[in-house]
Amino acid sequence: MKTVVITGATSGIGFAAAKALAASGARVIGVGRTQDTCEKAKAELLVAVPNADITYVHGDLSSQTDVNAVADEIQSLIATSGCLDALINNAGGVRSGYTTTPDGYELQFALNHLAGFLLTFKLWENLRKAKGRVIFTGSNSHKKTRMHWSDVMYSKHYSCLMAYKQSKLCNMLFAREINRRFVDSGVKAYVVDPGLVNTGIGNKQTGGIVSAFWRMRKKHGDSPEYVAQTYSYLCNQMPTPFWLYYHACKPADYDKHVDNEQDAKRLFELSEQLCGIRFNGGDEK
Ligand SMILES: NC(=O)c1ccc[n+]([C@@H]2O[C@H](COP(=O)([O-])OP(=O)(O)OC[C@H]3O[C@@H](n4cnc5c(N)ncnc54)[C@H](OP(=O)(O)O)[C@@H]3O)[C@@H](O)[C@H]2O)c1
Repeated sequence: MKTVVITGATSGIGFAAAKALAASGARVIGVGRTQDTCEKAKAELLVAVPNADITYVHGDLSSQTDVNAVADEIQSLIATSGCLDALINNAGGVRSGYTTTPDGYELQFALNHLAGFLLTFKLWENLRKAKGRVIFTGSNSHKKTRMHWSDVMYSKHYSCLMAYKQSKLCNMLFAREINRRFVDSGVKAYVVDPGLVNTGIGNKQTGGIVSAFWRMRKKHGDSPEYVAQTYSYLCNQMPTPFWLYYHACKPADYDKHVDNEQDAKRLFELSEQLCGIRFNGGDEK
């Protein structure tokens, strides 16, 4: 039985992926923000998949203290085998105004990128043991986006859209760097482009034009259940030849800038510094 961790598993894409993976027979560990949302999601999931092997762990992934605690709890849940077949870094959010986390970082950068970076680091040995995979929920919005190195957190002139797009470019650069740096680990990193999906993401902790725009736009999106198929595909198959970026269970084109080693390395090192860790992965190139 495969063991899969999914962050942001209480609603939208993550909840649908948790359902699909539980239905396919995986042991699913979902991560949600609060105990209340986790309990509701678990009850709803068990109605859809009565024999699901599902456990929820809660924590605010915008806080590094909570990411560390969540990772510790996951490790105690998988202590018997020590193996993790897949980590799906899916939790994400949008903030219309500049918002900082308990660690003092801009929220979209911290939640959409740094949380996945730190959780991957914390669970790396478990992923290595299973020769597992790390899957990020990315977005086509990474295209034609570049790192805003002069002010990565957009603290001077905050733009919700630019901060979001950059966070999705970070998912791509980090996944690419895992595959480059830890090529001998047996772990593979992938990014899913879900396309436009009908979820509440743009209506949580947003306001004004951002919330109004998303209410209109999401109506044209695919269902989370349709998108969830790509996560099942990547968890249950080992597609060859290897490709980084998937949409609707098929390889998709990504921005060539993602192959820029200099930016990927610089982001990796900055993320290590911001998380206070040294991510050697046991077989650094
Ligand atoms: N919807 C789209 O069209 C679209 C397109 C491209 C990419 N994406 C990406 O898809 C991913 C999932 O988004 P979604 O559209 O499915 O939206 P969603 O329904 O809002 O799901 C986001 C999930 O992340 C959780 N989350 C948010 N902040 C958190 C925090 N601080 N700590 C722990 N968990 C937190 C949410 O929990 P709460 O509800 O409790 O906050 C929720 O479970 C995101 O990475 C997003 O960038 C979405």
